[in-house]
Amino acid sequence: MSTPWQSATPLRVAIVGVGNVGATFAYALLLTGLASEIVLIDKNHAKAEGEAMDLNHAIPFSHPTRVWAGDFADCVGSAVIVLAAGALQRPGEKRLDLAARNAAIWQDIVPKVVLHNPNAVLLVATNPVDVLTYATLKLSGLPPQRVIGSGTILDTARFRYLLSEHFHVDARSVHGFIIGEHGDSEVPVWSLANIAGMKLRDFCAARQMEYDSQAMEEIFRKTRDAAYHIIQRKGATYYAVAAGIMRLTEAILRNQNTVLSVSSLVQDFYGISEVCLSLPTVVNCGGIAEVLRIQLDASEIDLLRRSADVLTRAIAALNLSP
Ligand SMILES: NC(=O)c1ccc[n+]([C@@H]2O[C@H](COP(=O)([O-])OP(=O)(O)OC[C@H]3O[C@@H](n4cnc5c(N)ncnc54)[C@H](O)[C@@H]3O)[C@@H](O)[C@H]2O)c1
Repeated sequence: MSTPWQSATPLRVAIVGVGNVGATFAYALLLTGLASEIVLIDKNHAKAEGEAMDLNHAIPFSHPTRVWAGDFADCVGSAVIVLAAGALQRPGEKRLDLAARNAAIWQDIVPKVVLHNPNAVLLVATNPVDVLTYATLKLSGLPPQRVIGSGTILDTARFRYLLSEHFHVDARSVHGFIIGEHGDSEVPVWSLANIAGMKLRDFCAARQMEYDSQAMEEIFRKTRDAAYHIIQRKGATYYAVAAGIMRLTEAILRNQNTVLSVSSLVQDFYGISEVCLSLPTVVNCGGIAEVLRIQLDASEIDLLRRSADVLTRAIAALNLSP
């Protein structure tokens, strides 16, 4: 029999794969106090145990939270399940090169996750994230609203940060999106990028500064290629993506209706269908509330279609059986 103080439902988040990305996300989640329970699941159980022990020792400095190394059965009751298991890019390797390796892991873990919890929102972080978001959808049989890839949430953050450096304003005051693949074919939406509602050219005119097209191209190149440069230097990227998944988790747990560039099933958008890629999306406690049908200019539409084609081919190569 439960005592009155045990009757409230704990807010559980499960993380499958507690390597660089999963463990950094767990740390961010603990520090925010957003979840009351964090379960760490990894095929290397000792690693999950070590991470749980280390995180538990941060509780006196943060928030009372139950953190433990569990197994797939512990996914039960989780509001959000983050999937961050699998291989990461080696220096010089493209994200799409990971598809076959990580899809094999997906065939193993997704059925186990949904067996124990068919009600959670699944957040996919593992690369190639758009392909694996689609694979998650097919392997889980969940409604598309509850399968979200971190997609270009990270690329959009990189883009906003680099623009903020160039224009000397807070990155949070720079609005813009990277859409399409989280990868080499991603697309910057220059036509909608703005500061204080002013398009970047108008912002420059108002500030009496020159709009530097070459600098803008360089900003996009640095955005798109950031992972290669970081992996070359430190072997992996994890702080910014973990912060992005944290923001996504917060939007879900707190039902915030936040607009984020995340990957989900796209149907009938400028002729693009049956592929997962990123577009500005309203996220709340149900997962995807709405994929926003933004207006793009002709060159952006063309680039987005090409990005969708790249992903469609990568998905077809996996021969996913539902
Ligand atoms: N979406 C993004 O923006 C983004 C950014 C950075 C990294 N990533 C991707 O995230 C993934 C993880 O990267 P990382 O640096 O954390 O890698 P990592 O090697 O540090 O961690 C992966 C973890 O997955 C575990 N694992 C492997 N197979 C498993 C299975 N079948 N069941 C349970 N656990 C399993 C491993 O034991 C390991 O602990 C990679 O695919 C990487 O490319 C995505």
